[in-house]
This record gives sequence, C-alpha cells and structure tokens, in this order.
Amino acid sequence: MANVNTIYERRIAEGELSEDAAQRSVLPEFERIREALLTAPKRGLFRRAPEPPKGLYLWGGVGRGKSMLMDLFVESLEDVPVRRVHFHAFMQEVHTALHKARSEGVEDAVKPVAKAITDSVKVLAFDEMQITDITDAMLVGRLFEMLFDAGVVVVTTSNRVPDELYKNGLNRQLFLPFIEMLKTRMVVHELASDTDYRQDRLSGSKVYFTPPDAAARDEIDAIWQDLTGGRSEVLELVVKGRRIELSRYNNGVARAEFYQLCGHMLGPGDYLAIADALRVLILEDIPRLSRQNFNEAKRFVTLIDALYEAKVRLIASAAAEPEMLYVEGEGTFEFERTASRLREMQSIDWGQPG
Ligand SMILES: Nc1ncnc2c1ncn2[C@@H]1O[C@H](COP(=O)(O)OP(=O)(O)OP(=O)(O)O)[C@@H](O)[C@H]1O
Ligand SMILES: [Mg+2]
Repeated sequence: MANVNTIYERRIAEGELSEDAAQRSVLPEFERIREALLTAPKRGLFRRAPEPPKGLYLWGGVGRGKSMLMDLFVESLEDVPVRRVHFHAFMQEVHTALHKARSEGVEDAVKPVAKAITDSVKVLAFDEMQITDITDAMLVGRLFEMLFDAGVVVVTTSNRVPDELYKNGLNRQLFLPFIEMLKTRMVVHELASDTDYRQDRLSGSKVYFTPPDAAARDEIDAIWQDLTGGRSEVLELVVKGRRIELSRYNNGVARAEFYQLCGHMLGPGDYLAIADALRVLILEDIPRLSRQNFNEAKRFVTLIDALYEAKVRLIASAAAEPEMLYVEGEGTFEFERTASRLREMQSIDWGQPG
C-alpha cells in the first residue's frame, strides 16, 4: 500500500523526478482525499454515507507537474473506483450520451446521464479543465451538482484559477454559480513551482533532426521515452462530428509520422483541434516538398501555423533543414514563413510565456 508521499519519494529516489517544494506542498491535499476515501466505511443499508471529502482544483502554469501529481494520486487510490479523463474528452462523451438519451425520448436527459456516471465512479480526475464552449458552460452547473450530490469527489488540473474559467464567455453571468460550486466543493490550490519541467526536459536536446536516419530515430525515441515514460494511448478528437485519431499520445505529447498528419484530407479546423489538444508534437519523416506533393505541403503549412499560434513545441525529423525543404514550385514564397517559423520553434525558450 503506497500513499501519495511514498510514490513521490520513490520517483525522486529513482531519479525520475527532481525535488520540488511547491509540488510537495500539494501532496497533503491529495493525501487528505485519499485517506478519507480509503477509510470511509462501506455504505450500509441503514447507515448514511459519510460526507465526501472536498475535492481538489489544482491550477498553475504549464509544465509545473499538475498532471503528473494527479496521476500519482490516481495510482495511490488502489481499488477506489476512479476515472481519470481529459476534461474535453469527458464533455464530448457527455454530449454524445445526452444526444442519445434525447433521441430515445428522455425529456430531462442530464439526470440519467449523470446517474450512469455516479453509478460507476467514486472519484473523477479531470485533466485540463477549461471551458470555452457555451453549450459546455450552460451544462456543467447542473451536471456537476448531480455529481457532487451523489458524493462523487472531483479532482482537476487547470491552467486557470476558477474565477477565470469561461472568461469573457457569452452569458457568463449564468456560469458564475458553477464557479461558486467548485469553490465550495473543492480546495483550490495553486501549483506555484518556478520550473516548467516539460521545457526543462527539452531544453538540452536537439529538436530538429536531419536527415531522418536511424540515429535521429534513436534520439527521438529517447525524447519520447523521457516525456511520456513510455506510456501511450490513442487520442481521439471530434471535429465537427468527424473523428481524428492520434495513435500515439500521452499527457499532451503526441508522436506521428508526416503522412499520418499531412497525407490525407485534413483541413485548418482539424489542425487547430490537434494543436489545441497538444503541448508537444513529435513529427517524423518530413519529406522534401515540391510540386509532386503540393497538397501535403499545403497541409504541412497549415499544421505549422496552427502549432505556432498555439505555442505547441515541435520535435521533428526531416529530409532537409527548414529553408531547404521546399525550394521549387508553386508555394515556395508562402513556405518562407513556414521555414522561418520552424526555425523559431527550435529555439530553447520557444513557447515560453513572456
Ligand atoms: N519534479 C519533477 N521533476 C522532473 N520532471 C518533472 C517534475 N514534475 C513534472 N515533471 C515532468 O514534466 C513534464 C510536465 O509535467 P506535467 O505534464 O505534469 O505538467 P502540467 O502542470 O500538467 O502542465 P500543463 O499545464 O501543460 O498540462 C512531464 O513529463 C512530467 O513528468
Ligand atoms: Mg497537464
């Protein structure tokens, strides 16, 4: 049986993590929840369930270790039924379930949808809570009220303090009670570490490899291993009802080959959604671009623009240096900007705020 502290200590001893006082100060919050969950008497027929512990809203800048700490917590929960899910993916599931219930004639669809969730989990661990969409904004109030009322404990990571959720959103006043609810049901804690560990892990390493040979692949393998710990899952994004799959994904980091992302019909909306979901993209085997693969080249330009705007880190292997990737045929002029962006995205502090 390992508590959150023990797991954190172990990772430090194994050299996987470095000591961080700000991260350490979060551990008691997770431990408090863990203890309450593991010591709670099982709900009996005549016994009222004890008050569930307050959840935790962990927020702060990128790369501070919020997701890593939440994963430690989830790992420590033993057989407590917990679901760790990206907030955006969760909301998409909820919308699908609501749609299905409504199409079957259920009038107040939120109730059965919430019940299906609360029947199966005790803890919901959301990664990257953010609300940008008005349909989400108008739904979360009722949904979360039902989750909390059923005793579900919610922990979440976010880049924003609760008061800034859905900032400048349409009809925001209707959303404010949700913020209040979060603040009552969860302890709000800022992870104020000075270090962006993701940036740290990348700052020593090369991020643009040419040619894309076996040596480049080995180095990229090592970066992927370091960023993900070798864990990988499929990331599914839904853009306007269509599904896009990234087959190798872990905690904001995705790895794909050029033709997977630029070899078939994806448009600007798709690339924006991909950029939005990622902090780091590893893109391998970018070929020389020319008249022969004009469509691929165009998509590549759109992809790089989306990554650049969203400040996603790019690690790439390519057939040539950025300036030499696309040297003849229609579109070379537009490609100059892409080449310049590719260059800029290689700098050590690229993607850092300020
Ligand atoms: N104390 C640490 N020592 C070494 N590496 C760390 C430490 N904390 C986190 N990391 C690593 O840094 C990377 C970023 O951490 P993590 O993904 O948890 O950040 P985050 O706060 O969730 O960022 P974001 O807001 O972008 O989602 C991960 O690879 C993680 O394993
Ligand atoms: Mg995170």
